[in-house]
Amino acid sequence: MIIAIDGPAASGKGTIAKRLAAHYGFRHLDSGLLYRGVGLAVLQTGKLDDPAAAIAAARSYDPARYPEDDLKSDDVAKAASIVAAIPAVREALIALQHDFARSKPGAVIDGRDIGTVIAPHAEVKIFVTATAEERARRRILELRGRGETVDDAAVLADIKARDERDMNRPVAPLRQADDAVLLDTTHLAISPAVQAAIDIVEAVRAGRRPA
Ligand code: DC
Repeated sequence: MIIAIDGPAASGKGTIAKRLAAHYGFRHLDSGLLYRGVGLAVLQTGKLDDPAAAIAAARSYDPARYPEDDLKSDDVAKAASIVAAIPAVREALIALQHDFARSKPGAVIDGRDIGTVIAPHAEVKIFVTATAEERARRRILELRGRGETVDDAAVLADIKARDERDMNRPVAPLRQADDAVLLDTTHLAISPAVQAAIDIVEAVRAGRRPA
């Protein structure tokens, strides 16, 4: 079984995907980490403007080379969003995601184009969203929690710029698949949001249309 979770940055999709995977005993792939790895590779070579460098990094992608802790910064997120708009970069990362999608007994994959491009045949598709202001608020709390100095307006501007880039690129833009269920977490804490996602999976499994 494949559960596809798409949505914008800081919508809660990553936590929901992780907890769904634990709940069902499925494997979890955060596909954003793949693009972040390529983003970090081009930042390290100082060639963010050079599509050839990004394509080469994607074609030789090795997850072991990019520990998750190195991929969390906003600079890497921005670089990921830029390299993710290059069709050949996306192409190079498809096989890995398709292999993962075949995991038994099931896979939960989160990203931007999982329900639309990577696994259009997924049994369950959830599109997780929240207002840009609420997503910025969460991000600000997270950064302050890490002891970082935060410019609130800059965080909101970054989130909006990333949404804009991810939704308006010609290849595999962020959008809700026609058969995805919308889960708006603007007014939901993480536990009720995860429960809502479980309810959606259960409704789909039982052949009911989720509320
Ligand atoms: O989910 P995230 O914030 O870690 O993703 C970082 C960037 O990677 C995001 O801004 C766009 C890109 N991305 C993508 O284009 N397709 C995916 N399936 C996942 C992420």
